Amino acid sequence: MCRSLPKYALIFLLLALSGLIFVLRNIHTVESWNCHTITSLYQLQSRIQSSFIPVNLPTFYHNRTFCAHLGQKPSPEDELEERYLLDSIAWPGPSPPSTPTALRFTSDPVHSLFAILPTKKGREWHVGDQLEVLVQMHDFQGRPKRYGGDFLVGRLHSPELGAGVAGEVLDHKNGFYSALFPLLWVGSAQVEITLVHSSEAVAVLQRLREERPDRVFFKSLFRLGYLSETTVCNMCLPPDQQPLCNYTDLYTGEPWYCYKPKMLSCDTRINHAKGGYLKHLITNKEALLFQSGVNIKVHIHASGPDRINVLPQRKVEIESSSIKPEPLKLASSGYYYEDTWRPLSGVTMRQFNQSSAIVQCLKNKVINMYGDSTVRQWFEYLIAFVPELKEFNLHSPKNVGPFMAVDSTHNILLKYRCHGPPIRFTTVLSSEMRYISNELDGLSGGPNTVVVLSIWAHFSTFPVEAYIRRLRHIRRAIIRLLERAPGTLVVIRSANLQALDQEVSLYNSDWFSLQLDKVLRAMFKEMDVLLMDAWQMTLAHHLPHALHPPPAIVKNMIDMLMSYICPAKKKI
Ligand SMILES: *[C@@H]1O[C@H](CO)[C@@H](O)[C@H](O)[C@H]1NC(C)=O
Ligand SMILES: *[C@@H]1O[C@H](CO)[C@@H](O)[C@H](O)[C@H]1NC(C)=O
Ligand SMILES: *[C@@H]1O[C@H](CO)[C@@H](O)[C@H](O)[C@H]1NC(C)=O
Repeated sequence: MCRSLPKYALIFLLLALSGLIFVLRNIHTVESWNCHTITSLYQLQSRIQSSFIPVNLPTFYHNRTFCAHLGQKPSPEDELEERYLLDSIAWPGPSPPSTPTALRFTSDPVHSLFAILPTKKGREWHVGDQLEVLVQMHDFQGRPKRYGGDFLVGRLHSPELGAGVAGEVLDHKNGFYSALFPLLWVGSAQVEITLVHSSEAVAVLQRLREERPDRVFFKSLFRLGYLSETTVCNMCLPPDQQPLCNYTDLYTGEPWYCYKPKMLSCDTRINHAKGGYLKHLITNKEALLFQSGVNIKVHIHASGPDRINVLPQRKVEIESSSIKPEPLKLASSGYYYEDTWRPLSGVTMRQFNQSSAIVQCLKNKVINMYGDSTVRQWFEYLIAFVPELKEFNLHSPKNVGPFMAVDSTHNILLKYRCHGPPIRFTTVLSSEMRYISNELDGLSGGPNTVVVLSIWAHFSTFPVEAYIRRLRHIRRAIIRLLERAPGTLVVIRSANLQALDQEVSLYNSDWFSLQLDKVLRAMFKEMDVLLMDAWQMTLAHHLPHALHPPPAIVKNMIDMLMSYICPAKKKI
């Protein structure tokens, strides 16, 4: 016993020493070994604490909408608009929607078919015509579906010509769907119809959206002196479980809450971060509705030919005919030709292949980008493509920002800042957590100011009312900005399609994005702002869908943005 003691002591000493070395190494990776050591220890501590977070998650009653009616009550006009918007995105589906359906009765893309109309031979198609495609959905047993609600997308394309255009899908609510395409180029055109989700899967997503706003959760670190605590945060938290810290924004009334730390006060909040994603949201039976390669983004086959040959535009035969055929107004905002986006509404697309052209365009301008990572991508594209734009080191966390780039020779300032909560970024400092509408209120604006907004991806786990409320605040701020500083250019980037599997679908499905996107378009329709149709730009393109679209698409978006900022001189 007496002889073994020194041996153990040696082991303990070694253990203690290696522990110290471990701590020192960790501290060195975070910050240098000086007066900041305490900070590093906190960071180490918070990293350890964050792994225990899910234990303290709140219990939601999953039978009602929590988030929708938290926050300020909308005015009667706002409430009216909200009801109109919600009606306009109402989605048809199985009724009653909540009955769980066996997979064999649900929509199966392999058994479903489409046909180009008319199916009889002899029809000629010309540029300027509209192509109609009829889709009939069947279930896994091959029986025709009798109700609508399937989420389908359509694309007409020609790989040889680098051409593509998004179609418009109409739901006849009886298992049949029409997909309409404008014919915009001469040559071959191939139809592609994709089932994104079955109507039964959409019903599950709809339920998750209303009842599980907690499926993505957030956290904040609180710190005072040596004490630090991390708690769960969200746009809404059940109020009857633990005391809350109320971070409702004073200017907009945007709600945000964290659980109150046990020892610290609410004003010791240091940061905001994505907490995590809840698992086990759906039953095993429901999980069958979300199978990659089976019923998530699977092509539907044609019963006959899937392509046509488009002839040049018809000569107008009777020039002064009073019965001019009314061209059906399709909702196409543009199309690709030779892999270049060609907008159909107003603006002429210019190519900005040289960085000097971008510098020339942005001379004397301040470009303020606000929003999610899909607009941060534009910032990144610009600083990578334009060597004159030097990123100014604000010591911001990677991928979070705020970021800033300057070309002092040409007097260009480019800025990016993420939107406020529920932003799902890794650690954003509380001091950098700002709402877009408040930021816009702080802009002087004017003809040399460009504002670019992208706000969609982080709202898909909440009821649509939360998104409407956010956009309402941003819209008011834009109206104030355009009133006090006419000539300010405001560009709004829409949502885009992304790669989906089961996991991504439950939190970020294109179905959520589509619904938000319709709301966004409706709310800014009458406004003096320009829309960048990222939805159609990603749908019409041949590259696979991705949350962050590939460079070939971003190049088109940047060219479009520059064409908005520096429109082509009108030829006389
Ligand atoms: C939701 O469920 C909780 C607990 O089961 C119950 O107390 C509450 O009344 C329910 N609310 C609604 C709106 O059904
Ligand atoms: C949070 O604060 C806002 C604004 O002060 C207030 O309107 C709201 O009722 C508060 N929320 C709760 C749950 O107390
Ligand atoms: C820009 O590049 C594309 C593709 O390389 C080319 O087709 C186009 O003509 C170029 N435009 C200009 C203005 O240089």
